[in-house]
Amino acid sequence: MSSTAPVTGAFSGIGRAFAKYHEARKGNVIITARRLDALDTLKTEFEAEHGVTATAIALDLGAEGGAQALYDRVRAANVAPDMVINNAGSGGHGAFVDRDLEADLAMIDLNVKALVTLCHRFGRDMADGQGGKILNVSSTAAHMPGPLKSTYVATKAFVSSFSQAIAE
Ligand SMILES: NC(=O)c1ccc[n+]([C@@H]2O[C@H](COP(=O)([O-])OP(=O)(O)OC[C@H]3O[C@@H](n4cnc5c(N)ncnc54)[C@H](OP(=O)(O)O)[C@@H]3O)[C@@H](O)[C@H]2O)c1
Repeated sequence: MSSTAPVTGAFSGIGRAFAKYHEARKGNVIITARRLDALDTLKTEFEAEHGVTATAIALDLGAEGGAQALYDRVRAANVAPDMVINNAGSGGHGAFVDRDLEADLAMIDLNVKALVTLCHRFGRDMADGQGGKILNVSSTAAHMPGPLKSTYVATKAFVSSFSQAIAE
């Protein structure tokens, strides 16, 4: 049976590299980001390279219900992923009180709430018998407070702590 992995934030950066790594090993990928046109281009590239199935799902994971919508769409397609790569994340720079509060709260929604939701939903299915692995992308920033990236660094501290705990 071939492996299938949803990869969040798959269009660029580290997420794209993870998706490419998985498909290069003949794994199917479910690539997600907000821009469908960009994902469609990536889907065509991946399928041509290795003959795998790449499914593009465009949605805002930071929006209310976004992560649940991703889970629902994957399950509606009758796919039970044996790997989940929670990579999508956003950052921001500046003294905490000078930053836009809404931007920091949106960062928490994406970096923390969406990740926890996907771990819970897909993790429940894995624990119920099908098995699988979840990779949560944190940062070395998780290991120290970051005065000009206070919320971002704190979200990554959460990701590291949470991931180590549920792995145990
Ligand atoms: N870059 C670094 O130096 C570094 C270091 C340590 C850890 N990290 C972590 O690694 C991860 C990836 O970082 P990166 O720098 O590679 O990111 P990036 O190049 O900025 O890419 C972010 C990806 O996430 C998607 N995305 C952003 N907001 C989204 C949302 N609300 N809903 C759905 N998708 C969204 C983007 O596509 P759309 O814009 O189309 O949505 C894009 O595909 C993050 O968790 C980051 O914290 C990065």
